[in-house]
Amino acid sequence: MRTLSGIKPTGQPHWGNYFGMIQPAIDMIDGNDAYYFIADYHALTTVRDAEGLRRDTYEIAAAYLACGLDPDRAVVWRQSDVPEVCELTWLLSCVTGFGLIERAHAFKDARAKGKDAGFGLVSYPVLMAADILIFDADGVPVGKDQIQHVEMARDMVGYFNQQFLSTTGYDESGEWLGVGLKRPAALVRNTTAVVPGTDGQKMSKSYGNTIPIFGSKKARKKAVMAIVTDSAPLEAPKDPESCHVYALYKLFSTPDEQSVLAEKYRAGGFGYGHAKLELLAKATEFFEPMQAAFDQHMANPAALEEILQAGAVKARKAARETMSRVYEATGVSPRKVGL
Ligand code: ADP
Ligand code: TRP
Repeated sequence: MRTLSGIKPTGQPHWGNYFGMIQPAIDMIDGNDAYYFIADYHALTTVRDAEGLRRDTYEIAAAYLACGLDPDRAVVWRQSDVPEVCELTWLLSCVTGFGLIERAHAFKDARAKGKDAGFGLVSYPVLMAADILIFDADGVPVGKDQIQHVEMARDMVGYFNQQFLSTTGYDESGEWLGVGLKRPAALVRNTTAVVPGTDGQKMSKSYGNTIPIFGSKKARKKAVMAIVTDSAPLEAPKDPESCHVYALYKLFSTPDEQSVLAEKYRAGGFGYGHAKLELLAKATEFFEPMQAAFDQHMANPAALEEILQAGAVKARKAARETMSRVYEATGVSPRKVGL
């Protein structure tokens, strides 16, 4: 199976990114054909700082590598190094009705808040579909928030194949026929589909409730100590299952360790401050080896760039193969792979 996923370089990667996407994606490298990229075109719906975008692109690249992505066993690249995705975005937008776009959560939220969505936000799901479809991806490891986007990509496969080729592209047994575009599926890990942030909502850079994977211990401690809890006094017995600190602790611990902590909650005489320190200690231990690798990669941007460029060569080759099918189906340029 070909797996593919991406992260926007819009700030420091956080625990939600790690457990929702990075770890499941890296676990899938074994036995699959893995493609993971940095979605810098997508970041431009909000980012207006070229230097910042370049730095954050390296942060995501360094995070992928530090968390275990081996560039000899998976393709890793920067989205804008394969500009054919923009070409496919246009062709998909020609077959996609505005009704589908209007149902996208990000677009609906912007409208509900009375904001001018901007054409980048309108076309965000189309660019994301192009990212996935140009690589004939089978599975897309993501957190729950991205399921809708993958479903939209599936819809676009139907529109494209029907309108340009008058076929679904699939036989009765559900086997892809190798024509037109291939339908992807979202792969979501139930246990980590939505990692809570410090305020209990989904952890997200846009909510300012994140705990970064890397960076200073001080910043991480500050974020952990700020996790919202109820105001039960230290002596009172507490319910672990309704506590965000415990929910986050579960990500880093074995069932036995979880039972030990849950017992302390229920016994009373154990404050939320204590629980937060246990969480911090576990998380620090968990990410420590990755932190060292991350720092090494960040200290050598030229080597990171080399890895991204080598990845782009492989990614672009795969993308161009799909594009020759797309050119054939639509009647645009007859140019072939490699031209
Ligand atoms: P953010 O919401 O912070 O901007 P991104 O949109 O860059 O995060 O998300 C990158 C990947 O990480 C996506 O696959 C997304 O589903 C996943 N992800 C982000 N936040 C969480 C979370 N809190 N829980 C689970 N997965 C998440
Ligand atoms: N939209 C995704 C996010 O915000 C990032 C992304 C862009 C992506 N293109 C993708 C994820 C293709 C998976 C597949 O997290």
